[in-house]
Amino acid sequence: MKQKIQEKFETLFGEEGILYASAGRINLIGEHTDYNGGYVFPGAINFGIMAAIKPNGTDTVKLFAINRDEYVEFDLEEESLPEQHWPRYVFGVCREIIKRGGTVKGFNAVFAGDVPIGAGLSSSAALESTFAYALNDLFNNNQIDKFELAKIGQSTEHNYCGVKCGIMDQFASLFGKEGSLIRLNCKTGEYKYFPFHPQGYKLVLIDTCVKHSLADSAYNKRRESCERAAAAIRKNHPEVEFLSDAKRVWLDEVREEITEEDFLRAEYVIGEVQRVLDVCDALERDDYETVGEMMYQTHFGLSRLYEVSCEELDFLNKLARKLDVTGSRVMGGGFGGCTINLVKEELHDRFVETAVEKFTEKFGHAPKVYEVVISDGARKL
Ligand code: GLA
Repeated sequence: MKQKIQEKFETLFGEEGILYASAGRINLIGEHTDYNGGYVFPGAINFGIMAAIKPNGTDTVKLFAINRDEYVEFDLEEESLPEQHWPRYVFGVCREIIKRGGTVKGFNAVFAGDVPIGAGLSSSAALESTFAYALNDLFNNNQIDKFELAKIGQSTEHNYCGVKCGIMDQFASLFGKEGSLIRLNCKTGEYKYFPFHPQGYKLVLIDTCVKHSLADSAYNKRRESCERAAAAIRKNHPEVEFLSDAKRVWLDEVREEITEEDFLRAEYVIGEVQRVLDVCDALERDDYETVGEMMYQTHFGLSRLYEVSCEELDFLNKLARKLDVTGSRVMGGGFGGCTINLVKEELHDRFVETAVEKFTEKFGHAPKVYEVVISDGARKL
């Protein structure tokens, strides 16, 4: 990928660029908890984005996306918002840095990536993080701290891409470390690295290749449900800043005041916040059976209470259970994308073969299978 990017950069701009990279992510557990002030437990992966970048002495950004074979130019004023969707991730990062008092001037860039798009592996966060990291290095002497860079990516999604996401994806993509998952408290920003080398197990992702077109608006609606539930609980318990601060019994107190739908969404979130902690405890005992069981519980919650699963994901989850896979669940925002599976090494091949065969038989197209390695996040190469 490196060579291809530099060759294209030379062809377009007549010199070499400076190389930066960042990563997509997985999340072992802790889904839809980030914007509720709860815990998440992600790690960066060996699929990412790489970019060659160089300041060009003008006020214009010149950007080429290898995967799309498309070239775009934009200026750095707010009015110059690009029409297409993909350059907005870069434009947004530039604008968010400028809004915070940082510096961004014109630059040339060529980028490429291998994070599957729409699979729930955060290809967009990988793109934002690559550019946030690079522009901090090139124009700001690395004065912006990494957590702020993650927020710059998150604000890009909010203000330029229409997704009111939490901080997990950008955080994982920036803070990722080879061989470690990171437990992040999304309310306080405290985080802890957990070495993750499950002896005798593998992590495998199975991608349904389904992407629902209304996923972004449905995601934002989930967030609104949670905020309404938290507001109702707060009336009785003013200490509840986020839904993750609420006890299950406090939710029961407001059952009649909120809609059934909001109640179910909140019920899922409160359970999920606890599951992250339980999984961390289990990992410290090398108790993968408990980790796996929690993953199945998360899937149940995401499917029945939070309602962000779909037929294809539920099918894969059920099949995993039937084949004695240790843990399995939908990963990421949902509405399509992947299941993440914790599977014993000796079962791995049979599980993957059977899942591909049965899925194809049922849905008429093959799922994709990704073997992920927990890797480093954003960096200069
Ligand atoms: C998407 C969002 C994240 C998070 C997950 C669900 O990936 O970008 O902030 O909310 O969904 O856990």
